[in-house]
Amino acid sequence: MSIQHFLQFKDLSREELEHIFNRAGIIKKRYKTYLPYHPLIDRTLVMIFEKSSTRTRLSFEAGMQQLGGNAIYLNTRDSQLGRGEPVEDAAQVISRMSDLVMIRTFEQEIIERFAANSRVPVINGLTNEYHPCQILADIYTYIEQRGSIQGKTVAWIGDSNNVCNTWLQAAEVFDFNVHVSTPPGYEVEPERAGLFGEDHYEEFPDPMDAARNADLVTTDVWTSMGFERENDARRKAFADWIVDKEMMSVASKDALFMHCLPAHRGEEVDAAVIDGPQSAVWDEAENRLHVQKALMEYLLLGTIDT
Ligand code: CP
Ligand code: NVA
Repeated sequence: MSIQHFLQFKDLSREELEHIFNRAGIIKKRYKTYLPYHPLIDRTLVMIFEKSSTRTRLSFEAGMQQLGGNAIYLNTRDSQLGRGEPVEDAAQVISRMSDLVMIRTFEQEIIERFAANSRVPVINGLTNEYHPCQILADIYTYIEQRGSIQGKTVAWIGDSNNVCNTWLQAAEVFDFNVHVSTPPGYEVEPERAGLFGEDHYEEFPDPMDAARNADLVTTDVWTSMGFERENDARRKAFADWIVDKEMMSVASKDALFMHCLPAHRGEEVDAAVIDGPQSAVWDEAENRLHVQKALMEYLLLGTIDT
């Protein structure tokens, strides 16, 4: 039987993702009312980090503990991965000692090589190309606060990075539209985004046009982890790609603002927006915990019939 991994958003079908959202709601409510739910007693999650993290580490570690299991943190510096042990060998060993692995790394190819040699499900906790757990939480948050995302318009303002690519995949799975605006030279690369169906996105040279009538406006840092060398060039190129009140005023009246965080106020977003009434960023961050608990439950125990 093949192992179900979550290496990119489209690895799970719409039906499976809807099941996960449904379970996330149940698990969230149960947790908030102090009703224990420990289906993963004795199970171990290994979390491998080759880049920094606050939310991803915390939500996976807390989530696994709340489900009755335990989580072990490994980073490049303190493990043999940083000293050149082949990722295939690491996967063989780590997956014999654990039930689930979450990895945050650089190229998508690294996580794919790990998964190909793993006996247990592997979850992408962010690569240069994708951040599927983030978009799981974002869509869950949208549905929780506004209802179905099908047919809606998401405006992506800024870099066509890992988070943007994942929104584009999700648009194909859930049948919504993404209006993307990037500075020249930073456009979407459809192949890198792993797009597979008809286009669900449109590119706009002017970010105000992308935001017009959008149901959700979202952005991310100008420079992602691993690209710090490009910082100066990006600061110049992205100077007009900032989500401010004026931009939110052309979006739909009840549009939400989201940001995966960490954010840089005064760069990609103004404080008035991220700290303003349309911002859903704290619920979005919290929901990482609930959706990932449902994801781990699904990958280890779940069927879509439960
Ligand atoms: N959004 C997100 O993944 O945050 P961290 O980098 O803190 O994990
Ligand atoms: N695009 C950002 C997301 C951080 C959660 C990065 O890769 O650094």
